[in-house]
Amino acid sequence: MRAARARWGSLSEAVEDAATHEDTKYALGSVLNHVCLHQTVIGLEAQAQMKLAGEYPDVVIGCHGGGSNFAGIAFPFARDKMHGKQVRLVAAEPTSCPTLTRGVYTYDFGDTGKMTPLMKMHTLGHDFMPPGIHAGGLRYHGASALVSQLVAAGLAEGVAYAQRACFEAAVLFAGAEGILPAPESSHAIKAAIEKARRADAEGRQRVILFNLSGHGHFDLAAYDQYLAGQLEDFEYPREAVEASMAKLPKVG
Ligand SMILES: Cc1ncc(COP(=O)(O)O)c(C=O)c1O
Repeated sequence: MRAARARWGSLSEAVEDAATHEDTKYALGSVLNHVCLHQTVIGLEAQAQMKLAGEYPDVVIGCHGGGSNFAGIAFPFARDKMHGKQVRLVAAEPTSCPTLTRGVYTYDFGDTGKMTPLMKMHTLGHDFMPPGIHAGGLRYHGASALVSQLVAAGLAEGVAYAQRACFEAAVLFAGAEGILPAPESSHAIKAAIEKARRADAEGRQRVILFNLSGHGHFDLAAYDQYLAGQLEDFEYPREAVEASMAKLPKVG
């Protein structure tokens, strides 16, 4: 059996490929419930490690593309939060693809080709064209239904950062820790640094847990461009979201 695979942006082509070949199946990733729940092994492991360290986080941070990475670290803590624990759950995304912070919580397709089932989620519109930023894994127009619902219920929150600020955070992190992070992960690092600096400014102690979702060994060209001052920031405009909302499927 063939398996069609896709990175964000070519998802429709992968679905089409699977739909037009008898011997090919396509398994939707990141946004779907089973994928998010599968990833929660990360948060469960983090909980065990925090326990060993004798700590519990005040803030849990993950970067957010389609949502499974954030879900993985955050969902076990969301369960604690629903049972009364004080913990903030922060999903960090790019300003160029601000699904949680600027998207609308409504029914939409998961792909540009409109072949997936409709999902209630935060969306920038299925006709969203991903900008050419370096955090390629964060350029998806939608979000996991479960993550979206947590955000809509006020149990989790989105935060958006521009790519140059994220690379700056990544370079600081690489110098301090000797680990080169993926551009995607740098969004979580940026959020963690922000929270730490705010705690410092307020003279408070804060336990911050973030998920370093990947290394940047294949992203050296992006670091090169950042260090050469060739990267630009991009803020996805509200008007573009509004224009896309007019093209949403009518439900109910
Ligand atoms: C290193 C890295 N971190 C995070 C993500 C985002 O994952 P998700 O789509 O589950 O939000 C990706 C996606 O490709 C990635 O490559």
